[in-house]
Amino acid sequence: MYQGPFYQYDLDLLNRTLSEALRAASENNCSMYYAMKANHESKILEKIKSKGLGVDCVSSGEIERALEIGWASSKIVFAGSGKTLNEISYALSNDIYMIHCESVEEFELVKDLKEQINSQTLIALRINPDISVDTHSKISTGERHHKFGMSFEEATMIISEHPTLVRGLHFHVGSQILDMQYFEDLSLKVRSLIEQLPNGFKLNYLNLGGGLGIDYRNPERNPIANFEGWMNALRIHLPTSIIETISLEPGRSIVGQCGRLVGQVQYIKHKDSDQPLVILDVGMSELLRPALYDARHKITTRKEDMIEENYTIHGPSCESSDHFGFDHRLPRLNRGDLVEILSTGAYGSSMQLNYNLRKAPKSKFIEGNIYTELKIKVA
Ligand code: LLP
Repeated sequence: MYQGPFYQYDLDLLNRTLSEALRAASENNCSMYYAMKANHESKILEKIKSKGLGVDCVSSGEIERALEIGWASSKIVFAGSGKTLNEISYALSNDIYMIHCESVEEFELVKDLKEQINSQTLIALRINPDISVDTHSKISTGERHHKFGMSFEEATMIISEHPTLVRGLHFHVGSQILDMQYFEDLSLKVRSLIEQLPNGFKLNYLNLGGGLGIDYRNPERNPIANFEGWMNALRIHLPTSIIETISLEPGRSIVGQCGRLVGQVQYIKHKDSDQPLVILDVGMSELLRPALYDARHKITTRKEDMIEENYTIHGPSCESSDHFGFDHRLPRLNRGDLVEILSTGAYGSSMQLNYNLRKAPKSKFIEGNIYTELKIKVA
């Protein structure tokens, strides 16, 4: 019996996705740090950890979660443009593997604290590659004017002063990128930057971020992202003779397709428009992406009805932006029918809002024929 909205995760698909990602990574000498921001459900994290991936955290809360799950400190990297002193201190005192500094000021803070507490954590610099990509402007990060990273000139200055303290470089161009040309552009850019680095600096660690997109239009046909194409593109100008291992931080491509949000039709209104307007019991509080980025998620129902109609689908919050878009073609819907919002494993539950004090959806996991149900753990 339906007891309210829930996220349902297909752990078999997650297993297959991880296998494919690991296969491509081993062929291209890449090592992966899963970007926890995409989904921080413990059961999902346990699965990812069990396959040997490291983890990319962007807050002390995420580092804490990673340690709770059992990740070794040596498999944790820490990024983020606004790390507080407390967060830096937490990361360094736990001797995590690598901290990605995003500004000259942050580097100074990290350097001093690292010396003071004699932390084993290594330092990498995040450089803004100044590459513009064709994705939603709110998830593009790699252009000069974006707040992320430091300029190449700033990084060069730090490296010249501290050639042995800086161990690596970090880049990330944006998210939901489907055109592999952008990753080739990044590869070329990084290669030319590496060639200009001060003599005597040894690049031990190169992290090229995440960003590989998934197919939101046809998730059933393309459930697994193009890991092979992504890594090949990144390697094109950066062969192993230049850098032995490339580190990556995939988030969406690992978990995006394995999750779906299940909700129920509450009301159907027939207004002046030509499409009936459906109101669900899930909306922007449970899945913010459509309201925030006009993101389009495919919506399906298991119901069978020969007659299909086009619907506009809305959430229940008191906001006009709380809607999932027009032209969702579905078998004729009635009050009480369940619908499934697909491709919501990434940036779904992890971006939930507290707005209107709506109850958080449960999480259900399917693996083999085993079904587990958990209440979402709120940080
Ligand atoms: N590394 C860095 C430095 C990042 O900023 C991000 C994502 C990732 C890795 C992981 O990127 P992915 O592989 O998931 O594309 N909430 C937005 C996406 C924001 C991405 C933020 N950074 C959305 O729902 O589309």
